[in-house]
Amino acid sequence: MCTLDFLNQLPKAELHLHLEGSLEPELMFRLAYRNDISLPYKDVVALKAAYQFANLQDFLNLYYQGAAVLQTEQDFYDLTWAYLLRCKAQGVVHTEPCFDPQTHTARGIPFDVVINGISAALKQGEVELGISSYLILSFLRHLSEDDAFKTLEAAMPYRDQFIAVGLDSSEQGNPPEKFQRVFAKARAEGFKAVAHAGEEGPPAYVWAALDMLKVDRIDHGIRAYEDVELMQRLIDEQIPLTVCPLSNTRLKVFSDMQEHTILKMLERGVMVTVNSDDPAYFGGYVSENYMALYQSLGMTDVQARQLAINSINASFLPDIKKRAIVQNIKAM
Ligand code: ADE
Ligand code: ZN
Repeated sequence: MCTLDFLNQLPKAELHLHLEGSLEPELMFRLAYRNDISLPYKDVVALKAAYQFANLQDFLNLYYQGAAVLQTEQDFYDLTWAYLLRCKAQGVVHTEPCFDPQTHTARGIPFDVVINGISAALKQGEVELGISSYLILSFLRHLSEDDAFKTLEAAMPYRDQFIAVGLDSSEQGNPPEKFQRVFAKARAEGFKAVAHAGEEGPPAYVWAALDMLKVDRIDHGIRAYEDVELMQRLIDEQIPLTVCPLSNTRLKVFSDMQEHTILKMLERGVMVTVNSDDPAYFGGYVSENYMALYQSLGMTDVQARQLAINSINASFLPDIKKRAIVQNIKAM
């Protein structure tokens, strides 16, 4: 039975989580106070009431505004640590979170402040909570490729602290090919690559992320369902999709969870995984995303186990670690 207890105990990886999107309203207010920043909301209740989104851009406007309270290394540490405690409570044994350096460097926060705060918490998470992690550096696609190149250059002294580059922010009108050269450079430097594609954007953006950016995984990718040939390719090549059900309904990609296609994709043999995207804004962390599939789509425990196995196999963990965790999932 897919009880919340069962889902919390199921060992799993989270592969699509924006650290800035895990900034809970309570922490946002605490950091605003600590850094002497005034928020345009009276209190947490008023802020939460503003979390009604018509689309991705509507959300991003609030998300970037909220991120402005993050100022010091300690702030980035506290943000990341709070997320890791949620992971611990929900059976996440491995996580590959992403962060948006440009959101912070554009406000004058030095790159090292951001990455050192995040890395310190991730390291402590491994030691004290037993949660392994690989960090992903995401480029903002509404900015220029030139800006992405500068960001990659600034990140090179910290290359041991992240494993992959990613691409996020406003999808429509900012196709993957805009970032073809900087992704080629990052891959040549040995980084893995992921990109948001087919969240709001068309299946053509998923094709472009695969063929032009040569990504290892697609973030979201749900609109691939509209393209028969693309679906076949995803199945044949077992290209992972990091799907985020609560995000998709909160951003009106699907009008209702009952319309969500993730389980249809799973049954067709697509390597789909379940993730939380921006849990502080979308009403739940990874287990709540699994739970929504149970409640609205009748997900079985067999399907839940397969989704958890997929999350491990789609991660950047070495095979030996994957095999050990998958065995634990099968034993549940
Ligand atoms: N940045 C944070 N969350 C995002 C999402 N769901 N899509 C694109 N960019 C994002
Ligand atoms: Zn995302």
